[in-house]
Amino acid sequence: MMKHYKVGFLGVGNMAQAIIKGLVESKVVAPDHIYAANRSPGKLQKATELWGLQPLATNEEVIDKCEIVVLAMKPQDLSSAIDPLVGLFNEGQIVISLAAGVQLRQLQRKLPQCRIARVMPNTPSVISQGVIGYLTGANSEALDTVVEDLFTPLGYTLKVQDEEQLEALTVSCSSGTGFVFEMMMYFQDWIEERGFDPATARQMVVQTFLGAAKLASLNAEQHLEDLQHKVTSKKGVTAAGLESMREFEIERALRYSFEKAALRNQELAKQG
Ligand SMILES: NC(=O)c1ccc[n+]([C@@H]2O[C@H](COP(=O)([O-])OP(=O)(O)OC[C@H]3O[C@@H](n4cnc5c(N)ncnc54)[C@H](OP(=O)(O)O)[C@@H]3O)[C@@H](O)[C@H]2O)c1
Repeated sequence: MMKHYKVGFLGVGNMAQAIIKGLVESKVVAPDHIYAANRSPGKLQKATELWGLQPLATNEEVIDKCEIVVLAMKPQDLSSAIDPLVGLFNEGQIVISLAAGVQLRQLQRKLPQCRIARVMPNTPSVISQGVIGYLTGANSEALDTVVEDLFTPLGYTLKVQDEEQLEALTVSCSSGTGFVFEMMMYFQDWIEERGFDPATARQMVVQTFLGAAKLASLNAEQHLEDLQHKVTSKKGVTAAGLESMREFEIERALRYSFEKAALRNQELAKQG
């Protein structure tokens, strides 16, 4: 359903453009209600041509015109962009931050007059297949609805309880996308070593991951273990492979990687 929010973007890079595409294509917000400013003119011009949004010359104008302001610059650019403008934000204005590693309470300290959501989309959001976690403060039902309206076109959108859960989502779903690619590369290498050309090997891997994910998605009521049982007969081929995977403690290696990524996330948050 079309919403009549005026949504403004400070920065129109990759993630902002994915969100704008989702909003326009799903008809959640009309292009004449989407405003944006960008540090350099090139991307703004391209986004304007692509999506018919309303370009503005400065961040100040975006803050002035829009009820919802999305902070879509890189985390390292956030303070220099926002600090000189904090007085321009209105009481109750909605601010949505995409900045990885900048915690909600840091943003609330900067902009105490605003209603703030911290949103973490992963890269498949660009093709509307994302996992998008968000964190808001207390008594935020109206704000939660706005976030759900804006991000549901990009994928599975869920509210998390605290920064710790947002970190778990960042590691498992955002970095997790990278971990999945790592495993896909192991599959591809092994297939190529058996004489398949790279393009065919790649396609075999992609389709295997896609097929497994689709099967799991279409049989949501079934535990993943039950789906695994269906391809595993006793003393069969899959069983032999799985036994080895467990012997080599792949779960332990993965858990260790998750913990390492979480620690790095904490280090980056401290620097922010
Ligand atoms: N991409 C992802 O998959 C992903 C996933 C999760 C979270 N995020 C978060 O999303 C945010 C944006 O990431 P991105 O990948 O979209 O980055 P990006 O492509 O580099 O886009 C950032 C944009 O912000 C603009 N910008 C920088 N400073 C500005 C300022 N003061 N005023 C206005 N615009 C300014 C940049 O302009 P120029 O044209 O001058 O460079 C650039 O177009 C980051 O905080 C990131 O942590 C991204």
